[in-house]
Amino acid sequence: MPVDPPGEYCSQLSLDPLKQLNAFMYKMEDYLGGLQAKYRAPVFRCHPGRRTVMLTDNLSGRFYFTASTDLLDREAASRVGCGEVGLTGDAVPLLVSRGERHKAGRAVMMDIFADRRASMWPSLDAAFESATSRWLSQGGFNIKLGVREFLMDAVFRWLLDTEISMFDVNSLHELCYFPGVWTDTLATKPVTRLLGGKFSDANNQARANYAKAVRESAMFERFQDFARDRGLPLDDFDQFVSSNMIGNVVGAPRLILVPAIARLGIEPELVDRLVQVRQGKAWTPRTLLEEPYLHTLFLETNRLYPRPRFMYKIAQQDFEVPAGDGRSYQIYEGDAVCVCFPQINRDPNVYARPDDFWPGRYEQNPELEEKLYLYSWGAGAKHPYGCASREGRQGEALVKYFFSRLTTEFQWEFAQRPVFDKNLYLEVGPVNLSATHFRRRDAAEAVQ
Ligand code: HEM
Repeated sequence: MPVDPPGEYCSQLSLDPLKQLNAFMYKMEDYLGGLQAKYRAPVFRCHPGRRTVMLTDNLSGRFYFTASTDLLDREAASRVGCGEVGLTGDAVPLLVSRGERHKAGRAVMMDIFADRRASMWPSLDAAFESATSRWLSQGGFNIKLGVREFLMDAVFRWLLDTEISMFDVNSLHELCYFPGVWTDTLATKPVTRLLGGKFSDANNQARANYAKAVRESAMFERFQDFARDRGLPLDDFDQFVSSNMIGNVVGAPRLILVPAIARLGIEPELVDRLVQVRQGKAWTPRTLLEEPYLHTLFLETNRLYPRPRFMYKIAQQDFEVPAGDGRSYQIYEGDAVCVCFPQINRDPNVYARPDDFWPGRYEQNPELEEKLYLYSWGAGAKHPYGCASREGRQGEALVKYFFSRLTTEFQWEFAQRPVFDKNLYLEVGPVNLSATHFRRRDAAEAVQ
């Protein structure tokens, strides 16, 4: 017999979701872990603005990712990406859209990626050479900003054959993104609309400059043809393309790469092995994507520092979800069903030493990869939504390319010891970390 998930929802007139929001955004895992312990269940109800059920272990997480769309669907909810700037949770501006327009936008972006496929590799090389020579001459770089500089330069070269000014990269900031489920009550919507994140003038100017770069590129006319063919409106098409480039192509890879670089920077023996593996070999797209040891580093980085960290779909009918405690939990039509990715991927019943960065686990037990549920690649990415780079594997290539080249060809010291805070909703990795004494590996060995 299925059981109802323990816990309660709050009323539409309550401001409680806003109180919960703070704990969720700044202490997410302690907060959810606390509820899990309180209810003694891996599946429980939360208080936020929709009827929300959290799934926090690997088995229930599997359900979230593999259920068919007649059980769990996301299309009806506004989705991040490929749209106009809209309001998530009716409160915070972000690129959202829904339905047919969303599908057309996604298809156009995929046309663009296919059209520009051949220029990806040379663009990565050019952006990497440019970034690392700048950092060599400066003797170091701020990791978060440096990664974004590299990615922005790479994507504008790759998709538009354009070189952009690094000046505006500094002004780009991500908005504080309040997850809609936490802000969606009658009482909380006006408050979050008032207090929610707003783009600064400098940020708006930077975005306008990047949209202009899209408009003025030699590719723009052809890209407009793709949009026309797919029935996508052409007004603001420059904004649409540049926002997708900044938000999707640069956004998630940046948030994975910062902790990846920080982690590998303090694990020299893992990097030494990568150097051995690479010895005498240049990375090509194929060797990069197929190298088994590099893949274990990539998997472990994604297990501990996944993007996104949180996602929800809406139950389309009543059904049961099996969980690792041997029970089945009853879900009702209309419930928002959520997963916290790092939690389902740190389930101690599946992952020994779940908090350790230990890539060797996949060599010992290759089946673990099938239990890693992520939004953009691997077993979890087989659901009908998610990242438009999933099939072409561009996201995977981008992340592997940058951290493997950086760590095997260069060395540096950190200005501060990296601190990994699993609790933060947006930034898992070190927030403000700088590399100093940045140098080529050969030169580094000569120094020692
Ligand atoms: C490397 C790490 C990446 C991760 C973790 C990631 C993850 C995601 C996620 C979570 C979404 C939102 C899905 C939703 O709201 O349902 C998304 C959308 C998207 N991503 Fe990625 N992404 C990555 C890299 C890339 C790259 C390199 C590209 C470009 C080649 C890309 C292109 C897109 C596009 C165009 C969308 C919008 C798709 C849509 O709205 O239907 N992503 N991605």
